[in-house]
Amino acid sequence: MAHSLHSLHTFALNSQCQNFVEITQLEQLKAQNFSAPFCLLGEGSNTVFLNDYMGTVIKIALKGIKITERENDTLISIAAGENWHQLVSYLLEQNIPGLENLALIPGTVGASPVQNIGAYGVEIAKFVELVEYFDITTNTMHSLNNEQCEFAYRDSIFKHALKNKAVITQVHLALPKKWQPVLSYGSLQQLDIITPQAVFDQVIKTRNSKLPNPYTLANAGSFFKNPIITNQQLAELLKQFADLPHYEYGQSHHKVAAGWLIDKSGLKGHREAGIEVHQQQALVLVNQGNSEGSDLIKMIKHIQQVVYTRYNIMLEHEVRLMDARSECHINAEPK
Ligand code: FAD
Ligand code: EPU
Repeated sequence: MAHSLHSLHTFALNSQCQNFVEITQLEQLKAQNFSAPFCLLGEGSNTVFLNDYMGTVIKIALKGIKITERENDTLISIAAGENWHQLVSYLLEQNIPGLENLALIPGTVGASPVQNIGAYGVEIAKFVELVEYFDITTNTMHSLNNEQCEFAYRDSIFKHALKNKAVITQVHLALPKKWQPVLSYGSLQQLDIITPQAVFDQVIKTRNSKLPNPYTLANAGSFFKNPIITNQQLAELLKQFADLPHYEYGQSHHKVAAGWLIDKSGLKGHREAGIEVHQQQALVLVNQGNSEGSDLIKMIKHIQQVVYTRYNIMLEHEVRLMDARSECHINAEPK
């Protein structure tokens, strides 16, 4: 029986899936049939269903938070279906700071290690002690420590070796008792009083000034990753585009701002049906309605081609795109 996916992903295309299951108990997971096509889902803020999905969408809604005091840190054990921002707010109320730079990121705790969520100078990798998961291939529970998660920028083992094999059930975060604020991001450097609450409030203010609320204007956050290029490539680009924002990434690479590349290519406001490059943040695509997956594909390819022609950089989409049967990747042919 068809089930609407419109309200199950924040980009809100009018797609449907054949079956839908919500997992609230571990026993349900163990009893689930994974031999037919399936797609794991949290709150759908980093997933777009381009077409009707010919399989079962499995929403992970396991709940529970446990706090364990240790000598130098506090261990927070969180079930995968908890909402990320509610967790950050709750911990701040309990005087357990550390996650304030990651305030207001939509989605679930279970999805947070998948792309190693990050914002305003902090990535979740900094705090992950252990990730517990249900292995679909063996029907058994396992866990990975921080190193085993292979975290990198918007990346982890869950997008590679464990893709479609692991259902994350619990995330354990270790938050040091000695609070060390991270104020490297521009708008945080202007703070007069530095407290966890002040950082939390400033992050929310900054985000609200650029990023549309996905529940009032459909979007999936940054649509593309910030590209990582070699120092040599950067030096060449800076000769022509001296104000290109760039950040060190290891010794031999730099990350450059995809939003700037799209913006300076004159694409803000560009539309394909109801899909538009957002006026406040060119890295975000918004869906005003009446749009289809094919319009989004057209938009992705157009942006990739324009940016490639101008800067010789092929943008890679950050958002996970689902086709009728599996995840897909859109890469335009350079013109
Ligand atoms: P979903 O979209 O439901 O799932 C994402 C992926 O994880 C899918 O591939 C899914 O299969 C997989 N998955 C989900 N749950 C599980 C599980 N339990 N086990 C295994 N796999 C699972 N991201 C950032 O990093 N930084 C930001 O600043 C940021 N800002 C955003 C702002 C806006 C307005 C929006 C809409 C998105 C933003 N994002 C940001 C992206 C998004 O919030 C994160 O990627 C978030 O972690 C997605 O959570 P979700 O539950 O909605 O994931
Ligand atoms: N910029 C422009 N024009 C634009 C957008 C950006 O010139 O339209 C410039 C900005 O002026 C700035 C630079 O590009 O100099 C970077 O912009 P910003 O600080 O807004 O951050 P971002 O690199 O676009 C990344 C993450 C966000 C995260 C913020 C804050 C990625 C793909 N995106 O965006 O994550 O919240 O930094 O740390 O890494 C997400 O993943 O969905 C997301 C929103």
